Amino acid sequence: MLPLSDAKLAEAFGVEPPKAIVLFGPPGTGKTTFARAVASRLDWPFIEFFPSRMGGDKNGVAGGLRDVFTAVNEIENVVVFIDEVEEIASKRKGDPPSPTQGVTNELLKLIPNFREKPGRLLVVATNYIRALDDAFLRHGRFDYVIPIGLPDSEARHSIWSRYIPKMALGTINLDELVTRSAGFSPADIEYAARKASQKALEESVYESQVATKETSTTTTEHYLWAIGNTRRTVSDDVIEEFEQDIERLGRL
Ligand SMILES: Nc1ncnc2c1ncn2[C@@H]1O[C@H](COP(=O)(O)OP(=O)(O)OP(=O)(O)O)[C@@H](O)[C@H]1O
Ligand SMILES: [Mg+2]
Repeated sequence: MLPLSDAKLAEAFGVEPPKAIVLFGPPGTGKTTFARAVASRLDWPFIEFFPSRMGGDKNGVAGGLRDVFTAVNEIENVVVFIDEVEEIASKRKGDPPSPTQGVTNELLKLIPNFREKPGRLLVVATNYIRALDDAFLRHGRFDYVIPIGLPDSEARHSIWSRYIPKMALGTINLDELVTRSAGFSPADIEYAARKASQKALEESVYESQVATKETSTTTTEHYLWAIGNTRRTVSDDVIEEFEQDIERLGRL
């Protein structure tokens, strides 16, 4: 962040600001959130690009990509985000070449150009980094290849705090929720928190004789019930593969 937000300072220290980064990790771990947060911290516009929605472009996905990068050239500061990049940059194989090969080639051509001008950051995200073309991940294209994994207990603590209503926060046993939600992704926590709130609301409206809508809210029991009824998205196998990917492909 610092070399991007203070380019002069970075230059004084001989630090080269990053131009392009890869985020990878299991679903729902916060890759999109992270990319948005970078743009928001820098106070730069955020342009999100979905390869899966470019199919309808008259020049195909490759043409759509070119148009986006041409348009982006006009903007002084910008974060460009390409989600599900494995759709357009997966391993080039097969004879005859697959249709996506042209798109992969196009993207590989566009990146050096994008890197030339300062004040811009390209962020690409994938759930499945091992499917990406080797040329895509070669040194010189992306400055960092950053794993985004499951939240540790400190991170789970802060994610839970975000999704628990303010008026309930003081009465909830957060440490218990943090322990019991080990292995949950941020998306799982959000889901469980919503489920708990929903149950508490239903109880308050339909069951409780004493509670009034003003005083009753969610309790630790509601959250523990919701945790017990939420399936972890990221299995142990996926975590193991992710660890291997970090070892083999991560670059920080
Ligand atoms: N640091 C965070 N604090 C609070 N909530 C978060 C955080 N990171 C992610 N979330 C929540 O978790 C959910 C999933 O996050 P996000 O969409 O960024 O994950 P992702 O890695 O991009 O998922 P996918 O691989 O499916 O695209 C979102 O609803 C988001 O609000
Ligand atoms: Mg995402």
